[in-house]
Amino acid sequence: MTVIRVNRDRLWRNLMQLKEIGGYDDAATGLRGVRRLALTDEDAEARRLVVSWMTEAGLTVRVDRIGNVYGERPGEDPTLACVLMGSHIDTVATGGAFDGALGVLGGIEVARSMNEAGIRTRRPVEVGFFTEEEGVRFGTDMLGSAVAAGRLTLGHAHGLTDAGGATVRDELARIGFDGPAPEARPAPHAYIECHIEQGPILASAGVDIGIVTGVQAISWQRLTLAGEAAHAGTTPITARHDAGLAAAEVVVEVRRMCDCGDFGQLRGTVGSLALAPGQTNVIPAAAVLTVDLRNPDDGLMTAAEKHLAEFAAGLAERHGVAATWQRMAKTAAVTFDEGVQAVIAETADALGLGYVRAMSGAGHDAQEIAAIGPAAMIFVAGENGGISHTPREYSNPTACGNGTDVLANAVLRLAGQA
Ligand code: GLV
Ligand code: MN
Ligand code: MN
Repeated sequence: MTVIRVNRDRLWRNLMQLKEIGGYDDAATGLRGVRRLALTDEDAEARRLVVSWMTEAGLTVRVDRIGNVYGERPGEDPTLACVLMGSHIDTVATGGAFDGALGVLGGIEVARSMNEAGIRTRRPVEVGFFTEEEGVRFGTDMLGSAVAAGRLTLGHAHGLTDAGGATVRDELARIGFDGPAPEARPAPHAYIECHIEQGPILASAGVDIGIVTGVQAISWQRLTLAGEAAHAGTTPITARHDAGLAAAEVVVEVRRMCDCGDFGQLRGTVGSLALAPGQTNVIPAAAVLTVDLRNPDDGLMTAAEKHLAEFAAGLAERHGVAATWQRMAKTAAVTFDEGVQAVIAETADALGLGYVRAMSGAGHDAQEIAAIGPAAMIFVAGENGGISHTPREYSNPTACGNGTDVLANAVLRLAGQA
């Protein structure tokens, strides 16, 4: 079987070029970070650059109605379902160069490498990037891939708003990525997403490659706690309805739930917390916080949500603070296709690359596409303990090149050499 070697230098140059779009100097780390929230001007500029790379690679580009972009390399038999690669190019507000970008730019590099090696495949091969994977701007993660796979409707996604009230629909139109292609994408023969691991497992095992067995359940909720503003100096401690104090108790309870063992391998994070009116000498009248829960077990995830709802309800009794929950996103645990995992394993073996199998702690577009076709993921090791969602995120050129070599050759196996 032909072995493809991608052009690692070109892949690295592309990653470094893309990272400058939305690049900023991060005061906390002293490093250059990336802030490219979905459907912003920075995202639009990045999209145009990536589309130009797709076009140069000879791919036929289409944009769907939720702004997902696909580039297609034809196969010998156009009636066959494609092999799809992809990920996302939006970032969190304090992101790095690799989260999502590796799978997209790696996919384009696979197409270029196939072109240069004169490789023709039986099936079409596609590379895509999905809108608002991070969920930072519009509050729902994996948005574009969830719409493509039919879990969320286009109408629901279009109607989501950012903190300033701008809708997904209007922002897609504004940046010119409200495409004409149907949002429900045809089922692929297989989907492979190459992504940085964002954790320490691969580095601990001393390997560059992970074969991802699945993704844990994710629950995102926004909790609003309503108390009463009053004077900080004169209001007796026992007469307060302090929304800030109630919020602090929620933060501590989330951590206690993770430590206590009752909810299995629960991970919980309050990543955003705002107090109003936000003045030194005024008791907070309101607190708005987000709760991010992750759990590999759907049943234990439900139990954790129920416990937290009861805990928040109890705040009314203890502090006179009313709790209102708003669902932002929820996805069940997903197990990836064993056949696609086996192809990735055979490919890594053939390339002489060691690997471990691992469950993903982070959410990925692959978990959505898994609903319409066999899907799996390749993880690439990161440095600094695999730290991610910070400018400290870093996967070296060798790790990125190895992961993309595995992607290329696994795709070739799945698409069939003509
Ligand atoms: C995506 O990056 C997530 O929040 O897991
Ligand atoms: Mn990602
Ligand atoms: Mn991410």
